[in-house]
Amino acid sequence: MAQPFCGNVRVPYGEESETVAEVLVLYYSRTGATAELARQVCRGVEAVTGAKARLRTVPVVSAASEAPAQPVPASGPPYATLDDLREVQGLVMGSPTRFGNMAAPLKYFLDGTAALWLSGVLAGKPAGVFTSTQTLHGGQETTLMSMMLPLLHHGMLLVGLPYTERALNETTSGGTPYGASHVGGPNGTTALSEAEKTLAQALGRRVATIAVQLART
Ligand SMILES: Cc1cc2nc3c(=O)[nH]c(=O)nc-3n(C[C@H](O)[C@H](O)[C@H](O)COP(=O)(O)O)c2cc1C
Repeated sequence: MAQPFCGNVRVPYGEESETVAEVLVLYYSRTGATAELARQVCRGVEAVTGAKARLRTVPVVSAASEAPAQPVPASGPPYATLDDLREVQGLVMGSPTRFGNMAAPLKYFLDGTAALWLSGVLAGKPAGVFTSTQTLHGGQETTLMSMMLPLLHHGMLLVGLPYTERALNETTSGGTPYGASHVGGPNGTTALSEAEKTLAQALGRRVATIAVQLART
C-alpha cells in the first residue's frame, strides 16, 4: 500500500490498517509558516487509527487561479479541487493572517464552493482551523473565526482545542481554543515551538478521531 503523501511527513501504517476516514488538510502559505503547521496537523491526523491525511494547497489569486499553469505546483502538495472536499470525511484548513482575516487565495477557493453548499455534501463533517501570524496579538482569533464562518454555512461541525490539552495552558506563543496557530516573529523565521507543534497535532488528531467515529456509525 502506498504511504500517504503529507508534506515531508510520511507516517507508515500497516498493510492491515484500513482507512475509515480521510481528512483534508487544506492550506495557503506564502512563506512557509502555515505550511509547517499543516504538516503537524497531518501528523496528528495520521496518529489516529483508520484516519489518513490528504494535504492540499491553493494557488495565489492571479490569472493562475482561473487557469493554473499546471495542475500540480512546482513543489509541495497539489492544488485542492472540489472533489477533494467531496471525497473526504473531515477538513482542517489553515491560512496566514492577513489584516486579521484569512488570506485571499483561500477565500477565493472557498468562494468557488457554492455547488457543494447547494448539495450539502459538507454538512455534518468535522472541521478545524489553523493560522500563522507575525505578531502575538496580530489577529489569530479573528482569522480563525473568519475561516469558521464559511464552514458553518456549509454545515460543518467545528472542532476546537480544549484546555484539557496541557500545551494550551503552557504556550507562550501560538495555540488557541479556536484552533492551532503559530507566531512567526518580526522576520517570520521563528520555528514552531513545541507547544505549537503539539497543539497542531492535537487538532488534526481531534478532527480525525471524530471523522473516524462518524464514518463508523
Ligand atoms: C498583507 C499582509 C497582511 C498581514 N497581516 C498580518 C496581521 O494582521 N497580523 C499579523 O500578526 N501578521 C500579519 N501578516 C504577517 C503574516 O500573517 C505572517 O508572516 C504569517 O506567519 C505568514 O505565514 P506563511 O509563512 O504561511 O505565509 C501579514 C502579512 C501580509 C503580507
